[in-house]
Amino acid sequence: MSDTMKGLKRTIMNGHIAEKNIGDTVVLTGWVAKARNLGSLIFVDLRDRTGIVQLVFDSTVDEDVFNKAEKIRNEYVLCVKGVVRPREKEAINTKMATGMVEVYVNDLRILSEAETPPIHVDDKAVTGEVNRLKYRYLDLRKPSIQKNLILRHEVARYARNFFADNGFLEIETPMLSKSTPEGARDYLVPSRIHHGKFYALPQSPQLYKQLLMVAGFDRYIQIVKCFRDEDLRADRQPEFTQIDLEMSFVDMDDVVSINEEFLKGLFKKVMDVDVEIPFRRMSYKEAMDKYGTDKPDTRFGMELKDISSFAENCSFGIFKDTVKNGGCVKLISASGAGSFSRKEIDKLVEFVKFHGGKGMAWIINGENETRSSLGKVLTEEEIKEIIRLAESNVGDLICIVSDKADVVNTALGALRCHIAEKLDIIPDNFEFLWVTDFPLFEYSEEEDRYVAKHHPFTMPVDEDIDMLETKPERVRAKAYDIVLNGYEIGGGSIRIYDNELQKRMFKALGFSEEEAYERFGFLLDAFRYGTPPHGGMAYGLDRLVMIMANCDNIRDVIAFPKVQNASCLMTGAPGMVEEKQLKELNIKIEEE
Ligand code: AMO
Repeated sequence: MSDTMKGLKRTIMNGHIAEKNIGDTVVLTGWVAKARNLGSLIFVDLRDRTGIVQLVFDSTVDEDVFNKAEKIRNEYVLCVKGVVRPREKEAINTKMATGMVEVYVNDLRILSEAETPPIHVDDKAVTGEVNRLKYRYLDLRKPSIQKNLILRHEVARYARNFFADNGFLEIETPMLSKSTPEGARDYLVPSRIHHGKFYALPQSPQLYKQLLMVAGFDRYIQIVKCFRDEDLRADRQPEFTQIDLEMSFVDMDDVVSINEEFLKGLFKKVMDVDVEIPFRRMSYKEAMDKYGTDKPDTRFGMELKDISSFAENCSFGIFKDTVKNGGCVKLISASGAGSFSRKEIDKLVEFVKFHGGKGMAWIINGENETRSSLGKVLTEEEIKEIIRLAESNVGDLICIVSDKADVVNTALGALRCHIAEKLDIIPDNFEFLWVTDFPLFEYSEEEDRYVAKHHPFTMPVDEDIDMLETKPERVRAKAYDIVLNGYEIGGGSIRIYDNELQKRMFKALGFSEEEAYERFGFLLDAFRYGTPPHGGMAYGLDRLVMIMANCDNIRDVIAFPKVQNASCLMTGAPGMVEEKQLKELNIKIEEE
């Protein structure tokens, strides 16, 4: 039988005990992080979410309590009463927040015993992720993970307060909604009542928040779960959380400036970090040209340079043909990477191939000599010309990729970050950036038509509207992404609020009027009854917290995350269901 807490009530959390408590009698609760039996003394580290404090059981003070303490093992749950004392000088632990004191116990209750845990509940222990996620409730006891989730709570709390203080109303929107294609794949929920029909879990509350603007709520915010059945990456989960907002009677600058205030305040309050506003803005085109990506990490240079004009007339056939066929040749010049070994350079070539490139040419701008993979196909003068165009310094490694523009950008954009990490030149500050002037459409090879780059409700830039039907590829969108240290932490746009324009947009996307009506009729209908100009954005809360917590995997800031193949190792979801449940839904599973 376990003990009870009868007669005892916790007086203080473990991590809050400090020198000011010396002499106090305290009642503590928590889990045993460590127990050491030294014969006549037993030391126990007692952990709760605020920290760890050292308990002392002394056989000369109370033998009964001491004898009971001999049973204590890791992860037992205890309640103790004792007196806070200063530690002996040599026992002071400056690495521990409570390291100046210890608690001499005179009443011990073992509230719950624990079997030997299958994983070490210790930040220093190296445990494979499979076991960490299978026993997530134990993994979640680790101080580092608790710290991340507490940070997440602080961010959500700040967001709620900030937006409420600025006139935003928190309004919930449905989780069971209608599948509206355009975007990622939906998670579907079969209807029991309507056989053959499905709800879709929301990829975002986009249409609902626009309807809330039509309804006159003026400013909306919601911290909301979103679901997307897409390939997972280190910064993507099938269900994730957005801080989602929408505002009426605004233009892009209004949305941008209130969000700059929010981020500045958030980083000050939660991290005590000063960030300067307004943030830098960069067009999509500039981002792609200089960084090869629409979410550039601008904390370091090493920008991409286009040498296509040179390459078109050089003596290397592959460069020439690539440019003639509409491709491009770009390079980066990495300061200090000129000392890389051949083996290291070969690895960079492999890296480029992994990221879609066919290969990578290189030039080492050495102190005494220039070496290059292009030595046999370009003249010495031509190599010198590339070094000049690259504005490269002695000691640099120049990496060159030629291909279709998107292949070159993807490969060199990734290589730029990879080399910067290798050279350890990325500062650990926070650099925000707005990326603007996105194209309204992008061509989908898969669907053989234009699809909306952001979503179909995004307003085109005024002076480009006339090209909607004639040159859709040139139309820019009133869309903006907020980028932090190379991650897209949020995005949004000013919306179309005119029915005719919305219909033209659907047409440009290849929908017939009937199809558009079938999918988005409720929105088109709503727009007929008085629609305010409106716009907004959504943050990826998980991603934002991941960066603030200095983690490189989104799973570390989510209590119960899914793994790469979208399953949950702890619950086993997704799982089979009973035949009876399938019958009710009129669903038959075909054998594969
Ligand atoms: P968007 O699709 O850009 O915009 O999503 C907003 C932000 O959500 C985060 N995000 C994700 N985080 C984790 N896992 C995922 N699978 C995932 N997908 C997206 C990103 C992204 O910037 N309705 C629009 C917003 C608007 O226009 O107001 C929307 O959903 O950080």
